[in-house]
Amino acid sequence: MVTMYEIIEKKQRGNKLDESEIKYFVNGYTAGDIPDYQASALLMAIYFVGMDYEETALLTRYMTNSGEIIDLSGIDGIKIDKHSTGGVGDKATIVTVPLAAACGENVAKFSGRGLGFTGGTIDKLESIPGYVTGLSIDKFIDAVNKVGAAMAGATGDLAPADKKLYALRDVTSTVESIPLIASSIMSKKLASGADGIILDVKCGSGAFMKNPDTAAELAQTMIDIGKYEGKDMAAFITNMDQPLGLAIGNALEIKEAVETLQGNGPADLVDLCVSQCVKAMEMTSSKSADECKTIIETAINDGSAYKKFLEIVENQGGDTSYIEDISKLVGTPSSQEWLAENDGYISSMQTERIGISSVLLGAGRETKEDDIDYLAGIVLAKKTGDIVKKGDLIATAYATDSSKFDAAKKCFMDALTFSSDKPEIIPIIIKEL
Ligand code: URA
Repeated sequence: MVTMYEIIEKKQRGNKLDESEIKYFVNGYTAGDIPDYQASALLMAIYFVGMDYEETALLTRYMTNSGEIIDLSGIDGIKIDKHSTGGVGDKATIVTVPLAAACGENVAKFSGRGLGFTGGTIDKLESIPGYVTGLSIDKFIDAVNKVGAAMAGATGDLAPADKKLYALRDVTSTVESIPLIASSIMSKKLASGADGIILDVKCGSGAFMKNPDTAAELAQTMIDIGKYEGKDMAAFITNMDQPLGLAIGNALEIKEAVETLQGNGPADLVDLCVSQCVKAMEMTSSKSADECKTIIETAINDGSAYKKFLEIVENQGGDTSYIEDISKLVGTPSSQEWLAENDGYISSMQTERIGISSVLLGAGRETKEDDIDYLAGIVLAKKTGDIVKKGDLIATAYATDSSKFDAAKKCFMDALTFSSDKPEIIPIIIKEL
């Protein structure tokens, strides 16, 4: 009989764990038979020593099997899911899902809420009055069969092992480990039942992964895990050294997503969403990338991508009058203009701090119990590489409670650096795997 002590010692000495040891750990910890202190010790050993491909895939498999596995076989055809590792201003799901559905894809998208300084798709969608994010699996399947896509929160008990392990990692400084992040994300994705998964691994000052090489290593690890389980996998490494698009905040991001579906989106967001959509179409057809792009451009230009978003919103109970007249959605909160205090190029944006600034305005939760101010957020007028003169508008902040502006402004301004030389601009898509 193996013991936790022996498993910890084996990993601590740099050895590979076998399947029975990984199974013993995941099942025992999920059941409450292994105490937190032993699980923490093993997580710390994994943090320092790492895990090879097979160990990581097996860890993921047992975490996936620790709870419900969603059966999406009731959806006709191939089901595609996309997942972003989380960023600031990341509304790509809200564009890519209707866009891909308008191009004939079946998109089964389970999303999460905001975490820390990063926003969450479910919170953004809930800024639309009436939109129901808590669908039963049957209703979710019906929605995809009826309109080609559903965007909802994960229901049921998906990967409970991850819930427990993530909470423990969060307080034992063991979050930033590639096998642990990869198994955490992929256990939930594999339990969600899609046939193909497109990953958007963020990299930079607003992401867990600060440099492209570690982001690519994480992406490759997740691709390998997915393939081990027979899934079609693709990944993008994308730039999170500045927010995606211009809007940060829930209703503000829905507005920007709608404008993008109508053909008026910011270049980085358009580029990312079109590329993700091409990838989804390549997974389910033999069309070339150019053919896919032509179909996508047509869906944007002829209004069918926007119409598909209205259909998805209506099908999930949302009041589409708030989309058709978007000024109703963004409302009339207090606003404040934030102006440049220096001349020069914006040479960098500490994106995490910009995310925190939006949380301080009320766009995210400072504690688990906080309510979100759906109208709060920031709209950037300038981004990295833009030149400004002292007094130029850099961003407009919005909040229902105007007492929040001062702290948020300080946090935002501290996030910017200026230079007299034009900085190098990193493209939105750094690498495709
Ligand atoms: N997101 C997750 O779901 N898990 C991690 O470990 C990190 C980001």
